Amino acid sequence: MAKVLIVANWKMNPATYQEAKSIAEMTKRAAGKNKGVSVIICPPVVYLRELARGSRSALFGIQDLSYEDGGAFTGEISARMAHSAGARYAIIGHSERRHSGETGEVIAKKIAAALLARLTPILCIGENVRDNAGDYLSTVRAQLMEGLSEITSSEIAKVIIAYEPVWAIGKGAADAIVPADLHEMSIYIKKVLAERLDRGKALKASILYGGSVEAENAYAILHHGSVDGFLVGHASLDVKEFPLLINAVA
Ligand code: PGA
Repeated sequence: MAKVLIVANWKMNPATYQEAKSIAEMTKRAAGKNKGVSVIICPPVVYLRELARGSRSALFGIQDLSYEDGGAFTGEISARMAHSAGARYAIIGHSERRHSGETGEVIAKKIAAALLARLTPILCIGENVRDNAGDYLSTVRAQLMEGLSEITSSEIAKVIIAYEPVWAIGKGAADAIVPADLHEMSIYIKKVLAERLDRGKALKASILYGGSVEAENAYAILHHGSVDGFLVGHASLDVKEFPLLINAVA
């Protein structure tokens, strides 16, 4: 059976390297005890190399990258730099980045740049609100198609899709999506992917869910929501909660 993928998105936390180290150690311990899960820690980039060094029980990723390969781009990090610091995954197009102005076109270029540097892209998509007319489906479809527009179909098969409805991010377990709605969304995403991939490959695509996943709701969402794992924000920084979450899905 394929391993359940749990991606820890630390966002701009914690404030010091000491805290980062202890959260990473806790995460590696919990991951090491549960063979059925694969845990990917995405810390702020200043902590990446140090935390990733010699790590066997957890893999590492970056929360964003530049699509440029190098040069006069103050403050930016390239995909190759991230790879050389120990990242093997890259979260791209997170809603918090889209909110600060990142366009679909830029996201598509970042996905291509990540693949070129041998990073597995985790493309984040998700609507701001759910409306009765089903406009949220068009939003998800457009974000997906746009994000994958710069790569070939054989490359698309390597991309992990993270469905993160913005209305469910950063709240509590009770505010996460209900598993039946996620099940439907997972089918819809595969149907859209089948426009670019052959059906068999589209059905096998890795889909994660993100938005208020905690130890309490993780098992139900995973098993009834038809996803391959989670992108976890606040719960991944909680040294008590996160091991419980990992155990719950393993
Ligand atoms: P959350 O964040 O788990 O705190 O809702 C998820 C995310 O933004 O990736």
